[in-house]
Amino acid sequence: MYRRLSTSSVSALVKTYSLPIDNKCINSKYVPKYRLSLIDRETSVEKLHISSLPSVNIYIKRDDQLDSYASGNKLRKLEFLFADILSRPKCHHIITAGSLHSNHCKAVAVLAARFQRQAHFLLRTDRDNHDEQILQGNPLLNYLLGAKLYLISKKANIQRDIEPRIQLLEEELGGKDKCYAIPIGGSDTVGLFGYFDCFIREIIPLIDKLNLGHLVVPISSGGTMEGLALANYFTGNRVRIHAFAVSDNENYFKTHFNGILKELELDHLNQFVNNNSLVDICDSYVGLGYGRMTNEQIDFLHEIIRETGIIFDPVYTGKCLWGLYEELRNKRIDRFPTDGKNILFLHTGGLLGLMNPDFSNQWLLSSNSHANHRMRNWMTL
Ligand SMILES: Cc1ncc(COP(=O)(O)O)c(C=O)c1O
Repeated sequence: MYRRLSTSSVSALVKTYSLPIDNKCINSKYVPKYRLSLIDRETSVEKLHISSLPSVNIYIKRDDQLDSYASGNKLRKLEFLFADILSRPKCHHIITAGSLHSNHCKAVAVLAARFQRQAHFLLRTDRDNHDEQILQGNPLLNYLLGAKLYLISKKANIQRDIEPRIQLLEEELGGKDKCYAIPIGGSDTVGLFGYFDCFIREIIPLIDKLNLGHLVVPISSGGTMEGLALANYFTGNRVRIHAFAVSDNENYFKTHFNGILKELELDHLNQFVNNNSLVDICDSYVGLGYGRMTNEQIDFLHEIIRETGIIFDPVYTGKCLWGLYEELRNKRIDRFPTDGKNILFLHTGGLLGLMNPDFSNQWLLSSNSHANHRMRNWMTL
């Protein structure tokens, strides 16, 4: 019944995988055997010029330029998760969850369509499916790509509400053999190898070249930071990783990271998560909460987009950049000492977050607060 890609075209993309460093650091039974080759180049790095911070050198790694639809950090995780999915011949359904505008779900929808699997998403939202504004940005792409969408309450809790519903869905769809459940954000012991690998192959060579001392990244489900932090640890902790939370708090992320370490039998590293030596998790800029920005933050973002020509989204990269900016502006030398070391900001994508109609009024107001910008944008003939 299902049209499938020929086995030969899939197997041309699935490559055997081995760690790019001494493989004794992680028990080989946890290292993915395969990787789906979806990324064919290193992403570029450029200088990020922010005129109000003239004396700091910030570089930006453009993972937002990975693939035009799947985009960003999600693709790196899905290279490993989809290799696992495609290695299971009976598995047709992929179930995952996220916010209505989840970039992770959208990336899964793109790959599910490409590899002829059926995607199912539990999406957290207060909107219902008759809402005129529901099909915009990522939800529209999910819909067009044929994913099945199940709307759940915005307040749904992962353990209490989401996981039991995923189990129920698995039963309805014919059992575990036919289904593959990806946790929110693809942040599990398979997905984290995306950034583990990226750190070793693409970031380490930049450390001396750009005199890097700091790597800055947004954190929401945890996997991006966890892969980077583990790779940094096993290669001599040469940079300080600063993860700016866009939701939840430091404790939540430490608990998640410790859970991942336990699954990988690396519990002896828990102490380094707890004493902040593996990663510096900063939760001071979550502000109004996940997916919500203050008018001041939106103003900042509007200004930065106009000044740099690089698009940052309000949910992830924009909030993270705001946190970094505030730390540097307030000269928080405990976090960013004036030691001549430069900063690398990882742009994790998320462009379609800008198409979330929840922010429309705030963007309008943000031009309002700068009378001349308003003039610049809205012209009268
Ligand atoms: C664009 C973007 N950046 C950053 C993140 C955070 O990464 P992680 O979920 O791995 O912590 C996400 C996803 O949650 C994202 O979509």
